[in-house]
Amino acid sequence: MERKERKRLVVGNWKMQLSHKAELETIGAIKNLLKNVALDVEVVVCPSFPSLAGVAEAVKKSTKLAVGAQNIHWEEKGAWTGSVSVLQIKPFAQWCIVGHSEQRALTGESDEEVQVKVSTLLKYGLTPVVCVGETAQERASEQTTARVSEQTKTILNKMTRVSLSKLVITYEPIWAISANQPDELPDPNNIAGTMLLIRKLAADRFGVEAAERLRILYGGSVTPDNVASFVFEPGVDGVLVGGASVHPGQFVNIIKQLQGGGSQA
Ligand code: PGA
Repeated sequence: MERKERKRLVVGNWKMQLSHKAELETIGAIKNLLKNVALDVEVVVCPSFPSLAGVAEAVKKSTKLAVGAQNIHWEEKGAWTGSVSVLQIKPFAQWCIVGHSEQRALTGESDEEVQVKVSTLLKYGLTPVVCVGETAQERASEQTTARVSEQTKTILNKMTRVSLSKLVITYEPIWAISANQPDELPDPNNIAGTMLLIRKLAADRFGVEAAERLRILYGGSVTPDNVASFVFEPGVDGVLVGGASVHPGQFVNIIKQLQGGGSQA
């Protein structure tokens, strides 16, 4: 499968940035801005848990927008105060981010726990957007390849060849998330190298053809100004957008830059 056969994907991660009212307004504005756009990019928005139902309702008739959650518990149900399970998001979301570095840092979740979440999502037909990436310290000690390989292999080891096409891996260098200065952003060549590493790990396990079906995103301080430098690197299938995704104009600008394989500015 060639790159052009993998549909480009933009995932908006709204984190804990907006009120419930603002989340509903944001989805309304995104819908409006995309109204007359013939979209060839897949778009997913990930609101907070309390807004999943409202945002799902808002995009119910849309063929352009899908809904994702930002996390789940690895268990399907049980006495886990404050947690949310796959069964609870399933009526509203078709996608779910797991292994985000902010969750890993907050809860200390291991690569194995992230892997169980991936399996749980796949079991219920949701698409996992699993995040991998190295810390600033790991980067400084040249551990990027080792760390990303470790995280990726833990996921891949429990997958089947068939389920690989239903998985999205996002490479988010942790030090590049919410970066304020352009010099804090990764070199696009290095990103391409890490993307190739991830696809090679998939190919080593499932063969080249199956690995070509895996979608791999870049995440970390993506804006309308820098998105073009990241997404047209070989092997990059789209972006996971945090800060810019809560601004409808910026988010839709990013989506449009990925249109038509990216010729549009
Ligand atoms: P950012 O967040 O775009 O604000 O850096 C990305 C993410 O953490 O998913």
